[in-house]
Amino acid sequence: MDSTESAGLEELMEQARSAAQNSYSPYSGFHVGAALRLTGGEVVTGTNVENVSYGLTICAERSALVRAVSQFGPGIRIEAVAVANLNEAASPPCGACRQMLAEFTLPDAPVVFPTADGLRTMAFREMLPLAFEMKPK
Ligand code: THU
Repeated sequence: MDSTESAGLEELMEQARSAAQNSYSPYSGFHVGAALRLTGGEVVTGTNVENVSYGLTICAERSALVRAVSQFGPGIRIEAVAVANLNEAASPPCGACRQMLAEFTLPDAPVVFPTADGLRTMAFREMLPLAFEMKPK
């Protein structure tokens, strides 16, 4: 990933970190934030919101995504994604979030997230090969 593609990613990461401050995570104690930059330059953030019925929990990435569609409509395109957590742990986007993001994210969009060895940036298309698609004949 060259410097042009990763332009603005540090700032996006900062916005993801700041979103993580709002995390509602009394069950896991894991505070996650996500920031999505749309092709119009708008940034939409989200955080994880847990529930006592654990499976109802929504991740930070999907939280940001539903907010982005709600605010800007179904035509949005995401050109960059940042994920952060306040636990100094790895947090690549989970499989469910990748599948949801796939519908709106440009294949070349950089995704930056924490790993055990520090931040990693990769193109979205590398994160979810063979995403489910529905093309009935
Ligand atoms: N979580 C996210 O916010 N994003 C992910 O991609 C994976 C996990 C949240 C869900 C839950 O609140 C906490 O992290 C622990 O799984």
